Amino acid sequence: MAKEKLEQRKQTLFGIYESPTYEEILEEYSKEFKRYIVPKGENIFGFWMQTLADLELLDLELQGLTDSYNIDPVNRVVEMEGDFEFIRKRIAHLETVKKKKTLYTEFIDLYGDTNAYAFHNLYPYKGKFYPRVVRTLINAFGLKEGNLILDPFNGSGTTTHEASLMGVKSVGIDITPMGVMLAKLKNELPHLSPNDFDFSLNDLVDIISSIRNKSWTHPNKTIENLMLVIYFDTIDAFARTSRYNRKGKEGLFVEKFTYMKKCYEKLMQIKENWGLNFADAEIYEGDVLDIKNNYPHFREKFDAIITSPPYYFSIDYVGKDKIAYEYFGIDMKKIEAKYLGMKNSLPIGKYGNVPSRVALYYEDLKASIENMFWALKPGGKIAIIVGDSTVNGRKIPTTMMTKKFCEEAGFKFKKLIFNPLLGARNRAIRGESIIICEKSS
Ligand SMILES: C[S@@+](CC[C@H](N)C(=O)[O-])C[C@H]1O[C@@H](n2cnc3c(N)ncnc32)[C@H](O)[C@@H]1O
Repeated sequence: MAKEKLEQRKQTLFGIYESPTYEEILEEYSKEFKRYIVPKGENIFGFWMQTLADLELLDLELQGLTDSYNIDPVNRVVEMEGDFEFIRKRIAHLETVKKKKTLYTEFIDLYGDTNAYAFHNLYPYKGKFYPRVVRTLINAFGLKEGNLILDPFNGSGTTTHEASLMGVKSVGIDITPMGVMLAKLKNELPHLSPNDFDFSLNDLVDIISSIRNKSWTHPNKTIENLMLVIYFDTIDAFARTSRYNRKGKEGLFVEKFTYMKKCYEKLMQIKENWGLNFADAEIYEGDVLDIKNNYPHFREKFDAIITSPPYYFSIDYVGKDKIAYEYFGIDMKKIEAKYLGMKNSLPIGKYGNVPSRVALYYEDLKASIENMFWALKPGGKIAIIVGDSTVNGRKIPTTMMTKKFCEEAGFKFKKLIFNPLLGARNRAIRGESIIICEKSS
């Protein structure tokens, strides 16, 4: 082909010529694809970064972890200065730092999941949030060993577990006995020794039958509770689908126990390879609205709060744990009655044109934010993760109300990040927002 003709055809999409052959397209595509999947650089984006929110979260993390940085979103790389070994152990949105795998990447490579690492996947507690978001916020807030975090809606303990893995102490409070049991377990399991998990197939079959007879006990309370939680999860999984019928309940119980044992072994492997020190968490069953009375020593005690209140009527939190509550003989109605927005019968304040049940929820949400302000040290940071639910086709503006309540309580509003929930099954919730505020010193 004449040279000038070739030149003419160069101004095209592919930067080559006007009508590339099929093979040329494939070759060019694979180069583009490679550039996207394997960016060139020392500090590269995690492949799990999908949305603008991820970019904002990366930016927040870098503010807390580095001396200086520059994000190049097109090439999916970061330039930065700081303590690279520390950043590598901490950061949640980079796959490599100085060409070496980050600890977070190691977790997801070993567990094969971006969220179900360590003991985060112990039990499918409803409304559980993403450990990566907690990790990001701990980094963004510059929290280190010696700092103390609070989650007053700790649920199954995502905040407290992730804080422990990062070597930061924390306190978790939740109204539900099941949440408390799970959060305590996540705190205790990393301290077991390998032979605590030594159970034969026959042992496990015996255990399941003694749980059924309600005669199951074990000298090690952590093991006792672990078996119970695995049992509740097994029975619940059976009740939901016939998929497991062939395995049988015993088969599924054994499978779930083996999975938890593997989670333990992988965690110990990472702990040793990375020289990690896990911090302890204190877990309490309690009501965020009674925090001043029941925990007066919590006044201005915490460096940061990372939490997610129940979203207005979006999820039947307690219903999921029916099997556990029946086993313990706990009246679920009594627990539900203590839920945010369920205690009073008539709202006192004015919250615009919302149904009175929503107003009651807002009243409690406001009071809980005031209590969080009370518990935070001056200069402390707070992140609240909330979502707007849609009730009878009407949007309940919880996100904006939460921001307003934060400002009314005395917080300085800093940032709101909207995180779309891609592929969420519950269409009423399109995404959630992270509201970040500070208490002035
Ligand atoms: C969105 S969930 C939090 C889940 C948690 N982030 C996790 O990862 O498991 C909200 C939690 O608030 C708790 N809760 C509701 N009302 C409460 C209250 N008055 N005091 C303390 N906790 C409450 C619920 O039991 C539920 O676990």
